[in-house]
Amino acid sequence: MTATHARYTESALIPKERYISADWLAAEYERLWPKVWQMACRLEQIPRTGDFHEYRIGSQSILVVRESEDSVKAFHNACPHRATRICSGTGNTDDELRCPFHGWAWHLDGSVLEIPDADDFAPEVLSRKDLRLREVHVGHWGGFVFVNLSEDPRPLLDFLAPVVEGLAPFEVDKMRLIRNRTTVMDCNWKVGLAAFNEAYHLEATHIWDLSGYAAGRLNGAARRTRRPAGMRTGESGATKRVDARDPEGRTPGSYQFLYETFQTHNKMRNVPELLTESAPLADMGDPKKAAVEMLRLSQLISLAHQDDIDYVEALDDVPTDVPSVRFFTDVRRKVGAAGGVDYSHIPDEDMLAAIDYCIYPNLVGPISAGNWILFRFRPNGNDPDTCLYDVMFLHRFGDGEQVPEVEHEFYARWEDHDGWGPTIGQDLSNMGHVQAGLHQTSFTALRLNRQEAGVRNFEKFVDSYVLADGDPTA
Ligand code: FES
Ligand SMILES: [Fe+2]
Repeated sequence: MTATHARYTESALIPKERYISADWLAAEYERLWPKVWQMACRLEQIPRTGDFHEYRIGSQSILVVRESEDSVKAFHNACPHRATRICSGTGNTDDELRCPFHGWAWHLDGSVLEIPDADDFAPEVLSRKDLRLREVHVGHWGGFVFVNLSEDPRPLLDFLAPVVEGLAPFEVDKMRLIRNRTTVMDCNWKVGLAAFNEAYHLEATHIWDLSGYAAGRLNGAARRTRRPAGMRTGESGATKRVDARDPEGRTPGSYQFLYETFQTHNKMRNVPELLTESAPLADMGDPKKAAVEMLRLSQLISLAHQDDIDYVEALDDVPTDVPSVRFFTDVRRKVGAAGGVDYSHIPDEDMLAAIDYCIYPNLVGPISAGNWILFRFRPNGNDPDTCLYDVMFLHRFGDGEQVPEVEHEFYARWEDHDGWGPTIGQDLSNMGHVQAGLHQTSFTALRLNRQEAGVRNFEKFVDSYVLADGDPTA
C-alpha cells in the first residue's frame, strides 16, 4: 500500500491573523458569508408543510420553510414591522408565518396574509409588495437545502460540481439524518474545519484508534515489520504511541491517503489497496470480538451502523484470513441487500474508503456506503476564538426500516458531552490548544505540507473573498 507522490513544493506560509483577528472575522461576515452557498438543513428536518428550520450565520437568521410537498422557500427572518425574528429554532407553523410581537402574518410563500389594524397605518408604509418576506435563494442537492444571501448567485450545482459527481454513487439524497449534535468549540471555525481536512494528524492524535480499529486498516507491510509485540484490539493504548509507520518511516496520513484539490473544494480518501492489504481479523486476537469492536468504533463516527454489528454478531464464525476491510465491505453489501439497498454501482474499493470531501466553505466529513458523518463549522458571533460545530449523522435505511425522527442535541461547551467517541474526542481536545498557540507572539504563520494541501486550497478560497477589498488586518 504505497501512495506515491511527487515532491511537494508549495512553500507560502499562512499568516495567523485570519484565525484570531476580529477584523478578519468582520470581513468574512461582510465579504464571504453573504456570497456563498451555505448548507442550512436537510429536507427531512422539514418534512411536513409548514415545517421551518432557522439557520443562523453570524447576526443573520434565515428561515427555511416547507411551503408544500415539493417546494421549500427561505426568508430573511426579520419582521418588516419592527424587526422581530418571526420564528426561532425548528418547528411547524401550520399554514401561516405569524410574528409573535404584534401578529403580522404571511402565507408560506411569503406573501402578506394579515396586518392587524392596517387602517391605523399611513397607507404608503403598507405596500403589500414591500411587506412580502424578503426571499433568500434556495438550492437543493442530495437532500440538503442550501441558501445563498447574494442577489444573483451562480447555480448551486455548478458551485458543487466535483462533489456532486464524486458522491453520486453514494446517493446521499436517499440517506436520512438521524442525529444533529451542535456544540461550541474553543477555536476559530477555520481551525476546526482544517482539523478534519487532513490526515497528517492521524498518527499523533488518534493513538487510541490506532491500537484498535484503525490498526486493522493499516498497511500490512508496516504492521509486519513495525507493529509492536503484543498489541491487540481493545487495548486503549491511550498513553502508548502505536507504531503505524511504513518501512520508509511515513505515517498513515502519508501512505494511506490520497489527496486531491479542485478549483473549489478538496478531497481525501483511503488508498484502494486497503481492500486487499488491510490486516486480517486473525491478527487481532478473537476475530469476531475484534470485528464487533471495530464496527462499534466506526459506529461512533457514523461509519458503521447497528445493522452491521447485529449481522456480525449473528455469524457463527467470521473469516480470519481475509483482509478486514474486505470482510467489512462484504458485510455492508449483504446488510444493504437484505434491506433492499443495492450498492452494486459502488466499486469495492470505494465502499469503505471514507471518501472525504471538504465542501467549501464549511462542510467536511467521510462518507462510506450507507453512512456519512458530516461536520459543519460556523463562526460564533463576533468571537474569532470560538465556533459553532455541528455533527450530522446520516444513514441509508433499508426498505421497511423505521426511520427515526431527527434527534437535535446542543451542548454549550463540547466538554459537556461525553459521547463524542474516542476519535472526535481526540480531535476536539486539540482545538483549544491550537487556538491558544495562535495567540503566542512567537508564532506568526502556518507551514503546510502535501497532506495539508486541502487546507491551503481552502484558505486560497477564503482569500478570494476576504482579500478582494484588501487585507482587513493590514
Ligand atoms: S414586530 Fe412583527 S408584528 Fe410587530
Ligand atoms: Fe482527527
